[in-house]
Amino acid sequence: MCGIIGYVGFRNARNIIIEGLKRLEYRGYDSAGIGIIEGNLHIYKNVGEIENLEKSIPQIDGRVGIGHTRWATHGKVSIENAHPHTDCNKKFAIVHNGIIENFKSLKEMLERKGHTFSSETDSEVIVHLIEEKYKGSLEEAVKKAIKELKGSYAIIAISQLEPDKIVGARNESPLVIGVGEKENFIASDIPAFLKYTNRIKYLNDGEICVIKNDGIKIMDLNGKEIEREENLIKWQAEQAEKAGYPHFMLKEIYEQPHSIMETMRGRISEIEPWINLEIDFDGMDEVALVACGTSYYAAMAGKYMIEELAGVPVDIELSSEYRYFGKKRRTVLAITQSGETADTIGALKEAKMYGCKTIVVTNVIGSSATRFADHVLLTRAGPEIGVAATKTFTAQLLTLMLFSLYLGMKNGKLHANEIKNYVAELKRLPSIVEEVLERENEIKEIAKIIHDKNTVFFIGRGINYPIALEGALKLKEISYIHAEGFAAGELKHGPFALLSEETPVIALASKDRVYEKVMGNIGEIKARNSPVIAIAEEGDEDITNFADHVIYYPKLSFPLFSIPIAVILQLLAYHTASLRNCPIDKPRNLAKSVTVE
Ligand code: G6P
Repeated sequence: MCGIIGYVGFRNARNIIIEGLKRLEYRGYDSAGIGIIEGNLHIYKNVGEIENLEKSIPQIDGRVGIGHTRWATHGKVSIENAHPHTDCNKKFAIVHNGIIENFKSLKEMLERKGHTFSSETDSEVIVHLIEEKYKGSLEEAVKKAIKELKGSYAIIAISQLEPDKIVGARNESPLVIGVGEKENFIASDIPAFLKYTNRIKYLNDGEICVIKNDGIKIMDLNGKEIEREENLIKWQAEQAEKAGYPHFMLKEIYEQPHSIMETMRGRISEIEPWINLEIDFDGMDEVALVACGTSYYAAMAGKYMIEELAGVPVDIELSSEYRYFGKKRRTVLAITQSGETADTIGALKEAKMYGCKTIVVTNVIGSSATRFADHVLLTRAGPEIGVAATKTFTAQLLTLMLFSLYLGMKNGKLHANEIKNYVAELKRLPSIVEEVLERENEIKEIAKIIHDKNTVFFIGRGINYPIALEGALKLKEISYIHAEGFAAGELKHGPFALLSEETPVIALASKDRVYEKVMGNIGEIKARNSPVIAIAEEGDEDITNFADHVIYYPKLSFPLFSIPIAVILQLLAYHTASLRNCPIDKPRNLAKSVTVE
């Protein structure tokens, strides 16, 4: 996830763009750059926060420009990889948000034609394609260039050959136009220009726009002009950063259909090789998973996935324990959303010292963990601002699913037909998560039941056991209610003593091979008069005989169902905390990333 902005008008473009980038910084902040036309094209870039860029660039007086704040996905954090990117003759500049899946083949083709690349990014191919296609009209060149792209993109392009315009295009990445008087804006998100205008025109997938100071033209890819109505935005600037959501956490929960798509992008296909992770397969006959906090629960879920789908034995270790007591498996896979957790970095260093092959699953390219590990699997959820992990957790689960399927495919545990069925189901995941999000009101009603309780239990068997642990962690982190997760069979070995009418139990009851056992456990709980709220598969009528309330998720097979269930538990924690008026995005005593041991 990156933030992009373009401006054309009568004001100083440098200042407008820097200010806009600061409002987009929540979309990524590892490096930034701007391109301004003042006679020629002037490009300025820097690594780190927008302030670094601001301090390092002169006061230049152009009225047309573009800017970018980067969240690296291809290529390390460096000035060369920061946007804007320019063509061989520095006449065109583009900023891009998204992932170009076919950039390698495009880059080879362009290099054969004599183009010279100066970054490692996927984005740079776009500007060379524009250079290649340019015959006197920037919009025509952009149109032809994007016809060759596969993947997701929001692009803004400028050229010193046509200094009065900016051209935008989008496919599956956001881009919105701000309508002004004798000036116009375009950006990834409204807060970038809300200070200047609240008049908005949305650009849709497969559309392109040409923006000048006195006009906006929106077209489809065949050049047919499209009439687009204007919308008035009533948000305040701070609200706008959260896209109208009251908290970043809720916004991030709602971003999951998109983040799930990004995690899978370019990694699954309906034809062979079905799953492609670009990790070599050596040493994958035994694996240790190490992590902390929410990532540790993803690791626990990963054990169920890898052992069942790939038949490979897995140890799971808390990073802080692994450092000192861990067994040395041939492959060590560390899971860390931030890539900066000191305990996990320590575990990785330890594993390297013992000569293990190291892989890191992380959301942050260029983070410390990526520098220590031999291989990196990016979860691509985009920056997460809320302290409680939500979209990064489901992205970790999904990455581990892809890893397990990849392993099972490589070692022959899974047959082609099984893999094909999984790929088909994976493709449905974004829309299934959408369906679950539509049940928010039902989940809110359940939150009303638990918000005034002192203790809530979560139970599950198999993969639902770590999901129950994560559900309990989410609830305690943000609502401050005491919550505990248990393997459903363990409740009777002690925690039963705590059950009463005032102790709700959230039971995860998927239709897998331990379903009957979970039913039995629910029966035992009901016999002690505790209210039971079940999360169950659609069509499961039997569950209503046991549970007081049921929240349904659409039918999915193991291990995919863990994702919609995790989303339901996130919404439950969120609404419970909201009813208790807790500071949801910044819970007391917690930090997003803990860099001390
Ligand atoms: C902190 C956060 C947790 C997180 C844990 C591991 O304790 O508060 O939400 O799960 O660190 O973070 P990581 O970045 O390594 O996944």
